[in-house]
Amino acid sequence: MNKIVLITGAAGGLGQAIARQLAAEGCRLVLVSRDIERLRAIYGHQHLQIAADVSTVAGARQVLATAREHELLPTALAHCVGNIRLSALHRMSETDFMDGLNANLVSAFHTLAAFVGALREAKLPGAAVLVSSVAAQIGTPNHEAIAAAKAGVEGLVRGTAATYAANGIRVNAVAPGIMETPATTGILSSSMGREAAARQYPLPGIGSADELAALMIWLLSDHAGRVTGQVWALDGGFSSIRPLVK
Ligand SMILES: NC(=O)c1ccc[n+]([C@@H]2O[C@H](COP(=O)([O-])OP(=O)(O)OC[C@H]3O[C@@H](n4cnc5c(N)ncnc54)[C@H](OP(=O)(O)O)[C@@H]3O)[C@@H](O)[C@H]2O)c1
Repeated sequence: MNKIVLITGAAGGLGQAIARQLAAEGCRLVLVSRDIERLRAIYGHQHLQIAADVSTVAGARQVLATAREHELLPTALAHCVGNIRLSALHRMSETDFMDGLNANLVSAFHTLAAFVGALREAKLPGAAVLVSSVAAQIGTPNHEAIAAAKAGVEGLVRGTAATYAANGIRVNAVAPGIMETPATTGILSSSMGREAAARQYPLPGIGSADELAALMIWLLSDHAGRVTGQVWALDGGFSSIRPLVK
């Protein structure tokens, strides 16, 4: 792939996996985090690095404006911002709920709006991929808040894909099960937590950010040129099969 790709959440586990694979393919990258020091520590002086909070309209627009100033208007977007706050509904604090909505849904809305706005202005086609979760489709205990936010992301993907299809702008999402990233260290760091998590999936094991990154890169590539408005599960069968319970 030879594109300019915007990666939000680029200091996170998934964002780094995508950046590594795309850099190896020779893509030019625009990397976003709220913390420029983390980007510097991870990427050195490679790629265009931007400090911004894309869960605000101003932050998301600033990213596209800065990229344009550097003549690096992206035609592909991998939106990897999000968090995972788990709790039964009656116990979840207002702060955690709002943090989850901002990180997962509000950031997706503003980033996608700024991205398609910039593409339209430049009269360019493009592609975006957002990250949902298995929990958006299948009721999963203690995932009420993230399920609500990610179901919103899936609706946003379909609506945006419909609006901009005529402009040649494709929008898809991926829906992973649990993956090993900094967001899941708390769950996966003990062997008990890891085994309990792995047991939830028909295919044994825990997913990796590299596997999901490869799927997202394919969705951004011209190979997926006729794919839009879709949510692609990468979840060890969680959302589609039920193994025999022994
Ligand atoms: N890991 C899993 O098991 C799993 C499963 C299902 C879905 N997902 C989804 O996969 C995506 C990537 O997650 P990850 O596992 O790579 O997590 P991660 O390592 O924690 O990275 C997520 C990044 O999101 C950014 N972020 C968090 N809250 C934000 C906010 N309020 N506003 C702006 N940026 C914020 C952070 O960037 P900065 O602090 O650098 O700004 C962080 O680096 C997320 O959408 C997550 O919900 C992950």
